[in-house]
Amino acid sequence: MTAPSLSWNSPPQTLILPSNAVHVWRASLHVSASDLRTLEGTLTADECKRAERFYFQKHREHFIAGRGVLRNILSRYLGREPDQLRFCYNSYGKPTLTEEIGAEGLCFNLSHSHGIALYAVTRHREIGIDIERFRPNVAVERLAERFFSPREAAALCALPEHLRKEGFFNCWTRKEAYIKAEGKGLSIPLNAFDVSLTPGEPAELLRAESHPQETSRWSLQVLNPEPGYAAALAVKGHDWELKCWQWCPMQVV
Ligand SMILES: CC(C)(COP(=O)(O)OP(=O)(O)OC[C@H]1O[C@@H](n2cnc3c(N)ncnc32)[C@H](O)[C@@H]1OP(=O)(O)O)[C@@H](O)C(=O)NCCC(=O)NCCS
Repeated sequence: MTAPSLSWNSPPQTLILPSNAVHVWRASLHVSASDLRTLEGTLTADECKRAERFYFQKHREHFIAGRGVLRNILSRYLGREPDQLRFCYNSYGKPTLTEEIGAEGLCFNLSHSHGIALYAVTRHREIGIDIERFRPNVAVERLAERFFSPREAAALCALPEHLRKEGFFNCWTRKEAYIKAEGKGLSIPLNAFDVSLTPGEPAELLRAESHPQETSRWSLQVLNPEPGYAAALAVKGHDWELKCWQWCPMQVV
């Protein structure tokens, strides 16, 4: 797979997030029992209730770890304790920080797949992130016909066969990241916009029915979280710089 190489560094003790910065954090959700308990202790009652609704223990634990790590990461920018943070949700389920905790314009989004989570954090701009694990035996042409726009499906079929799986996951994660940045879920029809997908070419929003200028308002970025996974980031605007951090369990306080 040909995603450009990014380095996932340990974060500095004091995190500075200027308005032209985007930070992406990578975390494993396979945490120890004691870290899981600590993370769980930072969740609100409604998050604990949500966790209880998962049928499989693994999914329950990943939800708890995912939320706990989110709280841990955001608290580092806000100088607040993780359990003091409060989230609200738009009508499509996108979480944001409530204003009363003094969110300082902090915007975030997260995505998880098979034990890996990515968190995107910035200020005063819409942001969306998506990670997917490459699955073997994916009927890429059939799924593309169902979920992609006609232009995307044609671009996928034009690829040589050995690049199609990568092209497929490029397209899937870019579409998801854009939809998640907009925060309106699948009320944005998947065929109402096109993204690039050819391996080795830049990630771009190529067309959006919603507004003629929409394509120039957004930037898309490929991420390489881990071998076997594809990921993409969608950010409003172009004047931003990316830093990638590795979240470590030792940072649970
Ligand atoms: C709900 C949705 C965000 C799904 O995401 P997903 O890929 O299943 O899950 P991810 O791990 O990427 O993201 C989940 C996180 O996004 C956040 N989220 C939830 N609703 C969201 C929304 N409307 N917008 C942005 N973020 C949202 C939440 O923090 C959630 O994590 P949590 O539930 O643990 O708090 C939405 O985009 C969806 O339903 N997609 C359908 C999939 C599809 O058909 N995709 C086609 C792509 S071609």
